[in-house]
Amino acid sequence: MNLLLSLTVFCLLPLALMAKENLPLNCIPRRSVPYHRDNARFFSENDVYNYSTMLLIEDKGVLMLGAREKVYALDLYNISQKRASAAWEATPAKKTECKNKGKNAETECLNYIRILHEVGDDRMYVCGTNAFDPECKYVSFSGDALTFEKEMEDGKGKCPFDPFQRYASIMAGDDLYSATSMNFLGSEPVLIRSSGNIRTEFKSSWLNEPTFVSMAQMQESKESESGDDDKVYLFFSETAVECDCYNKLVVSRVARVCKGDLGGLRTLQKKWTTFLKARIDCPVLESQLPYIIRDAYRWCDPEKDWKSCIFYTVFTAQLDTSDLSAVCAYRVSDISRVFAEGKYKTPVPVETSFVKWVMYSGEVPIPRPGACINNAARKAGIHKTLDLPDRTLQFVKDKPLMDQVIQPIGDKPLLVRRGATFTQIIVNQMKAADGNKYPVMFIGTDKGTVLKAVNYDGEMFIIEEVQIFHPRQPIKILKFSNITIQDVHGQLYAGSDTGVAQIPLATCERSSSCMDCVLARDPYCGWNSALGKCVFISKSHREIIQSLKVGDASLCPDADPIKPLNLSVREGEDLKLSCLPLSSLGKIMWQKNNIDLTPSAALQLQDGLLIQNVSLSDAGHYRCLSVEHSRAKKHSITVIEHLVTIDLSDSGDRTLDTQAQTDCASVTGLQVACALLGLAFFALLAWNFYKGHLCMPWSCFKSKSEEQSQESQNQEALHSGVSYQAAPREEKSVVISSNSNNNQH
Ligand SMILES: *[C@@H]1O[C@H](CO)[C@@H](O)[C@H](O)[C@H]1NC(C)=O
Ligand SMILES: *[C@@H]1O[C@H](CO)[C@@H](O)[C@H](O)[C@H]1NC(C)=O
Ligand SMILES: *[C@@H]1O[C@H](CO)[C@@H](O)[C@H](O)[C@H]1NC(C)=O
Ligand SMILES: *[C@@H]1O[C@H](CO)[C@@H](O)[C@H](O)[C@H]1NC(C)=O
Ligand SMILES: *[C@@H]1O[C@H](CO)[C@@H](O)[C@H](O)[C@H]1NC(C)=O
Repeated sequence: MNLLLSLTVFCLLPLALMAKENLPLNCIPRRSVPYHRDNARFFSENDVYNYSTMLLIEDKGVLMLGAREKVYALDLYNISQKRASAAWEATPAKKTECKNKGKNAETECLNYIRILHEVGDDRMYVCGTNAFDPECKYVSFSGDALTFEKEMEDGKGKCPFDPFQRYASIMAGDDLYSATSMNFLGSEPVLIRSSGNIRTEFKSSWLNEPTFVSMAQMQESKESESGDDDKVYLFFSETAVECDCYNKLVVSRVARVCKGDLGGLRTLQKKWTTFLKARIDCPVLESQLPYIIRDAYRWCDPEKDWKSCIFYTVFTAQLDTSDLSAVCAYRVSDISRVFAEGKYKTPVPVETSFVKWVMYSGEVPIPRPGACINNAARKAGIHKTLDLPDRTLQFVKDKPLMDQVIQPIGDKPLLVRRGATFTQIIVNQMKAADGNKYPVMFIGTDKGTVLKAVNYDGEMFIIEEVQIFHPRQPIKILKFSNITIQDVHGQLYAGSDTGVAQIPLATCERSSSCMDCVLARDPYCGWNSALGKCVFISKSHREIIQSLKVGDASLCPDADPIKPLNLSVREGEDLKLSCLPLSSLGKIMWQKNNIDLTPSAALQLQDGLLIQNVSLSDAGHYRCLSVEHSRAKKHSITVIEHLVTIDLSDSGDRTLDTQAQTDCASVTGLQVACALLGLAFFALLAWNFYKGHLCMPWSCFKSKSEEQSQESQNQEALHSGVSYQAAPREEKSVVISSNSNNNQH
């Protein structure tokens, strides 16, 4: 694939978007790591699918995993090791009943585990779809066994009936908050709290054919001057009621309720009195249709209060009109302010059957509709929502939608990318060598890859994209743990329909040179000159070269000079010198006898240099440079050098075998270079009497061909002209670090 072409194609749209700000946009990952079984540790069992529910119990060192008709306890340190499992199948009677109601016996009439929450006293609360009749149970893990308790609870309103329907839930203290559909048909959406059975109204102005995405709680009562309450936020998309359009339009929403809500006394009895929602926008290009939210992750700095928390979200196109995905981030404080101070929307009948939603500009009752009970309300004698006056309740019942649309930080996405659709996002904060903390985004895609990206002062940088699942599977869930394995602090767990994978937050050894390590701009990694290795950053390591914000590798020690490879070519033949750039952001440049080669002098190909009909004047010293621009400067890194001599001997007198052997021998040296340098060049030249007959060291050849086939498969997903190729390298141990993690979702 032509790098330039790919760059043009894939950068075009986002570039157009960013052109205004004149920001460099690295819309392709600097490194694309093709599938390799060593990329991750895996777990799956035969005939078990849909590994999409996870619960981390770090103090016990287990990852609880919910799949179809099965619950597992896996070793958090090595998920390939199963500590225990327990089956929970829908009974044959249930399955028959489900089938008789017209559902598919193979795909729908099974028990999909959907809810897994810790409830204290060493028990967990588990719910499953149970062949379209959701049930919940308690399960405990002790010793090395998972034990289900006998009693079942009705799972209606907690867990969806339909395994294909999205839902959201969290356990806050002893209260289960869930957003799902309450009935068999999936037509009664609710946000419900188990204690008190407080729920949303069945009204299209509250929830209108929603798709629930995610939920998070926020401790807004902590040190609150106004005596505010804690809140639960819900992200979803739904059919817009407020739109003046003929067709259905789906919009993204954030809603919130107050934890202390007990419902109203007469109006809104057993219903939320604090349910307010607002549209959230993630403006991608000049898109006509709004993009739709697919996942949201609450990220908080553990050293700061809730106002610093940020929701990171992924959005994709509404219809399949575009293959762009975007990441937008929202300040919780911005969202909170809209609910606390913003204007409401109100329905106005326009024609007999048509209702228009406009900004409400009339008088707003006191206490403010939808507000949590705060000091001001308490002063007025209102201590709980049951005390709220009907006027306030009726207002919020009719007008739960805010007028203002919530915009992301900076009024634009943090990242826009074409290709593999984003499905999940999770953010981890890393304290880098410069003492600054960087939020690092891990984004799952529908092609089974995970992207790692950081926004450096407005510049989006995708460090790498790693193919984790093969064959490709959409990533359905992502979780973190802060455990340390081989001095790498933090692990990421990804679930798909076919299995689960565990990857370290960073694999610094992928960079084998200082230049590559620094240009990778990975907050977790730095070059340790003493060890001569790219290592996981640790407090105990002071002498680390890292340049995250600008990618300046000039502090790197001079690389060892590369020994040129000797090459003898017969006059009149073609000469191909292979060379791949160091990264997807690098471009190849050739020099001959220290002078830049102009394209006319030889054919410069994506993966090398081709000189046809070699003549005496083509002899010389060829150098291949990988030129990579970072914010700081242009870096030219020598990848390979060739000393080409022209063999004038009679070309009629061919001795194939010897020639082949000679070539092989000369290339074998490269195998060593390959291993030593670990550079991303694998395509090796071989010159022969027969064009195209390549003779290569076996291992390199094999990797290259695997890489190529992998790459062609992955091109759609990885969008890069080159793939990163792991050089044969031993496992290296790296240095300990401690970073602050945030593991709550
Ligand atoms: C993880 O566990 C599996 C299964 O027991 C084992 O084969 C593998 O070697 C372990 N991996 C590591 C890195 O310990
Ligand atoms: C469960 O996994 C199977 C196998 O990959 C897949 O075909 C099916 O769509 C999945 N079901 C759900 C509800 O996600
Ligand atoms: C991991 O994080 C949890 C909180 O999420 C904390 O309680 C635990 O001590 C941390 N473990 C380590 C090894 O840092
Ligand atoms: C290449 O040839 C030069 C002399 O022309 C010699 O000094 C050098 O050692 C050779 N290099 C290799 C790698 O064989
Ligand atoms: C190769 O170059 C020689 C001398 O420069 C020329 O005579 C010959 O025609 C060329 N052959 C081809 C196939 O271009």
